[in-house]
Amino acid sequence: MYVCSCFGITEQQVKKHAEDGACTPRQIASACKAGTDCGSCVRRIQALLGRGACPRRELAEQGRPVLAELEELEEAA
Ligand code: FES
Repeated sequence: MYVCSCFGITEQQVKKHAEDGACTPRQIASACKAGTDCGSCVRRIQALLGRGACPRRELAEQGRPVLAELEELEEAA
């Protein structure tokens, strides 16, 4: 099941990148390009990250800059 059909990125790949520390759609994008073409998958990626796929989310919630970016996206959603 593809999350990003432009680059053929699967849900599993996104989760793997999340495990490796990509906590935001932007970090996923820099890891595997997902979301950088048509952008229609960004919400799906965001939803995957929001489900707690990222073990470092806790760190992000302690006020690292990544949090601001996340909130920005949530507001836009
Ligand atoms: S589906 Fe991911 S960039 Fe188009």
